[in-house]
Amino acid sequence: MRASAPGKIILFGEHAVVYGRHAVVTAINLRCYAEAKKSNSFKIHSPIATTGIDYEKHPYISYAIKRFMEIKPIDGAEIKIESEVPIASGLGSSAAVSVAVLKALDAEFDAGLSNEEIFELARKVELDVQGIGSGTDPFVSTYGGTWLIPERKRIKLEKLKIIVVDSGEKSVTAEMVAKVAELRKKLTDVVERVFDVIDAVSLKALNGDIPKLFKINQCMLKALGVSTRKIDEIVQKLEEMGIAAKLTGAGGGGSIIGVGSEDALEKARKLFNAIIVEPEQEGARVED
Ligand code: MEV
Repeated sequence: MRASAPGKIILFGEHAVVYGRHAVVTAINLRCYAEAKKSNSFKIHSPIATTGIDYEKHPYISYAIKRFMEIKPIDGAEIKIESEVPIASGLGSSAAVSVAVLKALDAEFDAGLSNEEIFELARKVELDVQGIGSGTDPFVSTYGGTWLIPERKRIKLEKLKIIVVDSGEKSVTAEMVAKVAELRKKLTDVVERVFDVIDAVSLKALNGDIPKLFKINQCMLKALGVSTRKIDEIVQKLEEMGIAAKLTGAGGGGSIIGVGSEDALEKARKLFNAIIVEPEQEGARVED
C-alpha cells in the first residue's frame, strides 16, 4: 500500500518550542510518498540509496520499521520512497518520511493504528534518531493543518502564500538543537529571555502583523546562533525585494521562508529558483 504525509514549515517559534515556548507551524502542499509491500526480508529504496534496515543511511525509515514491529511483528517489507519535500532543508522531510512509512506499513499489514498512534510512533522515531526534539514535525505531518504548539490548537491564518528559498547549505536538526542547548547551558538567563521573545512573537502572530514578526523572529534566531552568513544574505536580498523573511526549521542552512505581494514573490521565485507553497489541510493519508 502507498501512503503519504506532508512536509511542514515552522512559521514562528523553532528552537524555543523545544523548551516549552509557543510555535506556529503549518503543513505544506509538498508530500513524501512511501509504498510498503509484504516481503520475507527488508529492503528500502529511496533517492539516497537502496539498503536493508540501515540506521546510518536510512535512520528515520529504519527506526520507523523497528517501532512499527514493536506493535506488529512482521517478517519483512519492501519500502519505496519518493518525496517532493527536499531533504535537510528545514521542511520536515524526516518527519514526513517517518509518518508516511508508518502509515504505509499500517495499511499494508492491517495494524489498525489511529493517527494518534502513528504520531506517537513517529515521535519515538524522532527521539531515536535525534535524541531531542519537540515532536512538532511528526505531529504536523500526521495531522496536516496549521497549529499553535504546544496547545495543539488548530488555527486559521489569513490565506498565505509563502516563498521557500533553499540556502544551498544542509540543515541537520540534531546538530542545531545541540548547539542551542550548549549556548543555553553557558548563558541560561540570556537564552531563556530570547526564547521568551520568540514565545511572544508566536502568540502575537495569531492576529498580528506577520511580516514584522518574521523580522523579529529572524533576529532572535540569529541571536541563538542558528542563522548563517548565506541565510542572512538571502534574507536581506528578499527584504530589498519587499519580502519579509526568516529561516525555518533548525537553521545552520536549510530554507528561508518569506511573505510579500504576489508580484514580489514571483520575482523572488525566479531569482532564487525558489518554490511557493501554501498551507495544507490534509495530514497522513493512504493513497490507494
Ligand atoms: C526543527 O524543525 C524545529 C526545532 O525546533 C526542533 C524541534 O522542534 O524538534 C529546531
